[in-house]
Amino acid sequence: MELHINGTTHQVDADADTPLLWVIRDDLGMTGTKYGCGLAQCGACSVLVDGVVVRACVTPVSGVVGRQVSTIEAIEADPVGKRVVAAWVEHQVAQCGYCQSGQVMAATALLKHTPAPSAEQIDAAMINLCRCGTYNAIHAAMHDLAQGVKA
Ligand code: FES
Ligand code: FES
Repeated sequence: MELHINGTTHQVDADADTPLLWVIRDDLGMTGTKYGCGLAQCGACSVLVDGVVVRACVTPVSGVVGRQVSTIEAIEADPVGKRVVAAWVEHQVAQCGYCQSGQVMAATALLKHTPAPSAEQIDAAMINLCRCGTYNAIHAAMHDLAQGVKA
């Protein structure tokens, strides 16, 4: 299969139903995307496919052939992603950090489609789990991003 990830074309040899997360991490060595639950529950494995956030642990690799996949490794090449990372740093969001690549991908997907989301839209979109309880910091960063506050 031919995959387009972060602007680069990769040839991968995998069964069609192999989860995208396995291919990204184990075959291509991009380990910024994390494995949490493997059940589409936590969001640690969030990546963007054609700009929409998906959970890579339950996305068959064959489903992204011909589409554009973006992972945390290239997030700062995206102007919106760069703003999200800056806001995350400004608010010192990360604790252990394990969930944060997924959080940043979810935030970037929301802001790409809704540049000034309401609090309700932020609540609806930012549903990834964080065992460290960084939710308040995430919401503070998202509030700044929604208001256009420069980080
Ligand atoms: S690892 Fe994919 S949602 Fe938890
Ligand atoms: S920062 Fe530790 S799980 Fe979210």
